[in-house]
Amino acid sequence: MHFSQSSLTFNILPYQEGVKPPVIKPNPTFLKEIGEKGMRDLLDRFYMSLYTSTIKDLFPQSEEEMKTAGQNSADFFIQICGGTPYFNQNRGAPQMGRRHAPFAITPEARLHWLVLFDEALQPLIGKVSDENMQSFWDYINVFSIWMINTRA
Ligand code: HEM
Repeated sequence: MHFSQSSLTFNILPYQEGVKPPVIKPNPTFLKEIGEKGMRDLLDRFYMSLYTSTIKDLFPQSEEEMKTAGQNSADFFIQICGGTPYFNQNRGAPQMGRRHAPFAITPEARLHWLVLFDEALQPLIGKVSDENMQSFWDYINVFSIWMINTRA
């Protein structure tokens, strides 16, 4: 029998129109624990799952472009976790609201996006501390609300 000590809760905050909860950056020690390679692998897993997902139409349509998009995203997450500012270096200021504006991000699309991120995080459970994993989840859970830009 397996007795889990884990206190992780990958809950999804319900979206309420007009409400943007304060964003807290992930613990920098999350990046220290998984390393840049761990972050790049995480975003690669995530983007490869987006590529065949229900929300795939939002994203680039070739596998090669999705690999690149995943690595741009990894640049961002390394930076937001206090690592090297690769995103600023390669893509410029994050301005995430502006960058997401061309895509219709509905509350439902956000749910799909988060569920797939949860799946991509699973292989890291037990390899990083629950506290750091939770802080990363809390960040994407909240910030993904900020990316919603249309009702339907
Ligand atoms: C924690 C929340 C999120 C973060 C930190 C995030 C981060 C990013 C980053 C760094 C990029 C690349 C921008 C560039 O290179 O110019 C990007 C692009 C994009 N994101 Fe997000 N995103 C978030 C939420 C979402 C959600 C909820 C959706 C849709 C359900 C979404 C859809 C897209 C799309 C369609 C693109 C353009 C294609 C691509 O480059 O991947 N994002 N996002």
